[in-house]
Amino acid sequence: MQFDDVILGRRSIRGFTPEPVPRELIEEILALAMRAPSSMNTQPWNFFVITGEPLDRIRAGNTERNLAGVPHSREFRTGAEKFTGVHRDRQVGVAKQLFTAMGIAREDMEMRQDWVLRGFRQFDAPVCVIVTYDRILDGSDDTPFDCGAVSTALVNAAWSRGLGAVINSQGIMQSPVVREHAGIPDDQVIMKSIALGWPDETFPANSVVSERKTVEEAATFVGFGD
Ligand SMILES: Cc1cc2nc3c(=O)[nH]c(=O)nc-3n(C[C@H](O)[C@H](O)[C@H](O)COP(=O)(O)O)c2cc1C
Repeated sequence: MQFDDVILGRRSIRGFTPEPVPRELIEEILALAMRAPSSMNTQPWNFFVITGEPLDRIRAGNTERNLAGVPHSREFRTGAEKFTGVHRDRQVGVAKQLFTAMGIAREDMEMRQDWVLRGFRQFDAPVCVIVTYDRILDGSDDTPFDCGAVSTALVNAAWSRGLGAVINSQGIMQSPVVREHAGIPDDQVIMKSIALGWPDETFPANSVVSERKTVEEAATFVGFGD
């Protein structure tokens, strides 16, 4: 696959076949992802790659606690809890695309709740990768930035091998559950989760291509003349 095919073809995958993912393939993908740049080459990231029983326990624990209304315990700053303006518009935009694809009506609270629960179950993916960073680097904005770089590289590397993934915060809403069942030590901060597996081609949301603002909107060119 060429670079453009990977970048333009990749999209978040939220429906997977039950087929297992070989450990060697995940190792290959992680090795590719870790070519990502990082501040001063600190490589602050670590990965807890979970499947089988422990992952099922995490799914159950997340679901149970979220349904019980336990407030989220993410280990990173989330900023304003509610988006406004263009950010809210984009959030609603992709949600509409996903709900339309899934046939979930705006007023169908049951189906909407089902969709949210799916996220807490890591979209029933066969594998979940928890991205953590070394706590000693806590406080530097470079560290989460570096985790973002490696996570993006990971989902692109996965795509290049035919695997699908979705980076998500839903899987780590209840960090103590993840910490316990994945055996994550205290010197690691939980940053993000990535659901990983073989895309289910029949799952409607998998075909959603989300929108992007234009280069014109995003970029300011300085010193280029007209
Ligand atoms: C930091 C981050 C957190 C995300 N959290 C979630 C999530 O909790 N649930 C979800 O369904 N998608 C989540 N996503 C996926 C985004 O919704 C998705 O990347 C975005 O809409 C663009 O779509 P695309 O990945 O298909 O290009 C997250 C992505 C990132 C980068």
